[in-house]
Amino acid sequence: MGVRKAVIPVAGMGTRLLPLTKSQPKEMLPVVDKPAIQYVVEEAIDAGIQSVLMVTGRGKRAIEDYFDHSIELEHELESHGKLDDLHAVQRISNMIQVYYVRQKLPRGLGDAVLQARAFIDGDPFAVLLADDIIDGPTPCLVQMQQVARRYPGMVVAVMEVPREQTSSYGIIEGTAVVPGVWEVTGLVEKPEPADAPSNLAIVGRYILTPGIFDAIEQTEPGKNGEVQLTDALQAMLPFKKVYACEFKGTRYDIGDQMGLLKANVALALKRPELAGDLRQFLSETLETIFD
Ligand code: UTP
Repeated sequence: MGVRKAVIPVAGMGTRLLPLTKSQPKEMLPVVDKPAIQYVVEEAIDAGIQSVLMVTGRGKRAIEDYFDHSIELEHELESHGKLDDLHAVQRISNMIQVYYVRQKLPRGLGDAVLQARAFIDGDPFAVLLADDIIDGPTPCLVQMQQVARRYPGMVVAVMEVPREQTSSYGIIEGTAVVPGVWEVTGLVEKPEPADAPSNLAIVGRYILTPGIFDAIEQTEPGKNGEVQLTDALQAMLPFKKVYACEFKGTRYDIGDQMGLLKANVALALKRPELAGDLRQFLSETLETIFD
């Protein structure tokens, strides 16, 4: 049986996007016509996930409201005969079973995942970071499940990054198994380029086994004073195999200004109803600027 539960940590402060994220969660920022987190929830659903636990924190109420029913709004839309809008908002609340738990202090991604222990209750599970939108022919989590079925163990999604960017990611060291799959032999959080064991960076998708919780509990705060999931995975390597799946697709880090802009432009250009006008606007704007 595949993975049926997912954890989406959304308790981070989103400081890279300030002031945009001063009073709204970065996960709710618009990407074309949906909040970023909806892309990630839809990916989870496409991969067969049946229930999601969101690890929330201060100032994240908007996320809970978004996936909840809005009785007043639904009533208003119904009474005005706006049935398309009504079905659109109902679809969001009915998408999937969502549970919430609070991370009391943003102590890092590892600590956020630890809050899911009771919910996970001994099953393998997925972790999806809501600030990584991955667009590809097959959802990234589906690609990872294919790897997990063939190579039992845990799976992290990786992509190649330029050497000078290794200090922004968890970086793996691994032995190639087949093209696009590595058996991980080491993981380092945010190494300087000179110390990085490779240029294969972990992005925000993981398939984990419940043993990770004990490992996180024993993990001291690492880079930036945060409890790092990467460090807990490194500690588990002698006991549990970890595989890296180089996914096919494009990843947008919407927690970063440029990533958010790129996601909006690239995903709008894929929408037939928007692409024509947007292309024309972009080429006219480029001509005006470089005239
Ligand atoms: P990031 O480091 O990208 O998120 O964490 P951040 O801390 O919100 O962003 P900046 O660097 O301040 O701009 C990756 C993911 O882990 C979650 C974040 O919400 C994000 O989805 N996270 C991080 C938590 O849930 N809790 C934490 O303590 C830290």
